[in-house]
Amino acid sequence: MDTFCYRERSLTVDGLDLAAIAERFGTPTYVYSKRAIVDAFREFRSAAAGRKVLVCYALKANSNLAVIDLLAREGAGFDIVSGGELARVIAAGGDPSKVVFSGVGKREDEMRAALEAGVRCFNVESESELQRLDRVAGQVGRRAPVSLRVNPDVDAGTHPYISTGLRENKFGIAHDRALDAYRAAAQLPNLEVRGIDCHIGSQITSIEPFLAALDKLLELVDALHAEGIVLEHLDLGGGLGIRYEDEQPPSRDALFAAVFERLDRHPRGRSWQLMFEFGRSIVGNAGVLLTRVEYLKRNGERRFAIVDAAMNDLMRPALYDAYHSVRPVQLRDDEPQRYDVVGPVCESGDWLARGRVLALAEGDLLAIGSAGAYGMAMASNYNTRPRAAEVMVDAGAVHLVRERESVESLFALERRLPG
Ligand code: LLP
Repeated sequence: MDTFCYRERSLTVDGLDLAAIAERFGTPTYVYSKRAIVDAFREFRSAAAGRKVLVCYALKANSNLAVIDLLAREGAGFDIVSGGELARVIAAGGDPSKVVFSGVGKREDEMRAALEAGVRCFNVESESELQRLDRVAGQVGRRAPVSLRVNPDVDAGTHPYISTGLRENKFGIAHDRALDAYRAAAQLPNLEVRGIDCHIGSQITSIEPFLAALDKLLELVDALHAEGIVLEHLDLGGGLGIRYEDEQPPSRDALFAAVFERLDRHPRGRSWQLMFEFGRSIVGNAGVLLTRVEYLKRNGERRFAIVDAAMNDLMRPALYDAYHSVRPVQLRDDEPQRYDVVGPVCESGDWLARGRVLALAEGDLLAIGSAGAYGMAMASNYNTRPRAAEVMVDAGAVHLVRERESVESLFALERRLPG
């Protein structure tokens, strides 16, 4: 079933009218389909049937407690990159023993909290971090399970800002230094070497970069094995792309089948637990951003639809020149025109879509597509704009999962000068 489709010229989410949701909750509002999120996760799970695979949901894509809660109930693990994200997993009822802690800049207090919570693994990104983690683990009195994030120097073929597996990126330990780093880790008394990981980028639309990265990891795993450093798991990170416009990313099934096939050619390929850290491919196409057209205007040859959502709500177009679909919630018969869909923020970079052919009138509602990942999660309060409400549709009911912020809350932590 299509999550967002027209019924009698009115755009619906799982059969419910988006117009009614806008009426009830106002705009801008993020609308998520619980069914779409669960279906995406279950597709990974069934693609992994019969294999030792833990799919961790990368919280950074959308860290609303309702999203975490429902994925926890589905048996997901979680990939976190901060103490804040750990607190969210715990608050939403997630199991810390299924959490992997990634990130290049883990602070000591974050390490301590993760050790105390009993996370499954720290994905360590530098030799200094190994030293620090060993010291903190010693203080806490626990051994820290570690995996080294190796930078395999593989081109993910994606936007430079979201490509992470090249030598020049800040992420991971360089492939040619990894053996030494493992040797060092194996010597540290408070660390327990468990695995190896990589994450080469996001919105990857072909299988080859994943396999190239896997091959690079396998080279290292074999070299380590020969030295008696035996690993329990391989974590291939996240990064599977979704369709925003006309991309043709591989299916979840096809990706897993290719990875399994490659592993089956390795003599110890079935011995490892496999882990993944998917964000976008679980939630990206499960959400839209609902917004209302405030004004239509024309400047020279250009027509603008000025809507009540802006770059602070959905940063991806401004930041990455990203394409998001724009669909009117109610279709009308007027003559379509070519519009730039822009927000009220005082920046020329404040646009959501450019050159879209739409039949519009002031007051119409629009649904900005593929907004479930890196939408609300990257939203800000720029221009003192309260962040949008978030709702989740579940079997005919609509649940408010984050209230719209109030203006007062935006400066509640601020103080005027004394006197
Ligand atoms: N694991 C690690 C270590 C990561 O850095 C990321 C994403 C993921 C997993 C999840 O990747 P995914 O499956 O969602 O592609 N804000 C950008 C995306 C940044 C991704 C950063 N890392 C965007 O809106 O496109």
